[in-house]
Amino acid sequence: LKAYRDRVVIATKFGIRFDHPELPGNHPLITNSCPEAIRESVESSLRRLRTDHIDLYYQHRIDKNVEPEVVADTISELIKEGKILHWGISEATAEYLRRAHRVCPVAAVQNRYSMMARWHESLFPVCEELGVGFVAFSPLANGLLSKCYNIESIFDTQTDYRAVMPQYQKDSFEKNKCLFEMIEQLAMEKHATPAQISLAWMMSKKPWIVPIPGTRCLCRLKENIGAADISFSQEEVAAIDKLLSTMEMSEVFGGSRIVDKAQ
Ligand SMILES: NC(=O)c1ccc[n+]([C@@H]2O[C@H](COP(=O)([O-])OP(=O)(O)OC[C@H]3O[C@@H](n4cnc5c(N)ncnc54)[C@H](OP(=O)(O)O)[C@@H]3O)[C@@H](O)[C@H]2O)c1
Repeated sequence: LKAYRDRVVIATKFGIRFDHPELPGNHPLITNSCPEAIRESVESSLRRLRTDHIDLYYQHRIDKNVEPEVVADTISELIKEGKILHWGISEATAEYLRRAHRVCPVAAVQNRYSMMARWHESLFPVCEELGVGFVAFSPLANGLLSKCYNIESIFDTQTDYRAVMPQYQKDSFEKNKCLFEMIEQLAMEKHATPAQISLAWMMSKKPWIVPIPGTRCLCRLKENIGAADISFSQEEVAAIDKLLSTMEMSEVFGGSRIVDKAQ
């Protein structure tokens, strides 16, 4: 990206490390957002990224041992020093967001959000009130909503978390039948792919909701970008939400366990 540095937004995060990253599978997270750790992280990121500033710097997980005001204060200093331009909080709660925002205005929260994981919708009014963007991570429920996977799909237990995610267990495909049918029907109506439907649904809700689907394939990147050309009316969104609230669904991966440093 060196040649395009001024035309891209680089976002990265601070505040966690993995417990036993050498082992396969899903690792518990250890949080550390004390001021020294934040400073050390930002310097390391700047060095690795070979840039002199980070456009958007997120706290990866709330550290219950450090008050939001202390984190926000440290960020405020880093902004004054020009090392970061904006900051955000990942897996933010309303109370934490409000307290942090009071000390140093937050640009974005980055929380899990998809048709299968809607528990952060209660944060939307707070985002609207404070003028904070909502960046939706795992917007395809880790790929499941693309409908590219089925009961026969196999994931490498050493390298691919999906092997242990509840939505990819064999019995989940049957439980999610209604959800898949609804997405398929909408895809037909909108001349879109299932992945585009999942992304367009949330983008149609508010202009400040931004999904960040992950992919290793250029064709899927282009497909996902195409979701920006598909829209749902507020009535259509409300009808989809109503269906989602009542239909049977499997469990969905809700995040890695957070363990205390002392353990
Ligand atoms: N803040 C946090 O704590 C946090 C946690 C998790 C993730 N994230 C971020 O969220 C982003 C994405 O989340 P995610 O990767 O967990 O879940 P996701 O975007 O819901 O799903 C990604 C998976 O879906 C597949 N996929 C993507 N587009 C597709 C398409 N059009 N058709 C078929 N399959 C498709 C990808 O496979 P292929 O690669 O094979 O295409 C990938 O395995 C990443 O930027 C990640 O850094 C943040």
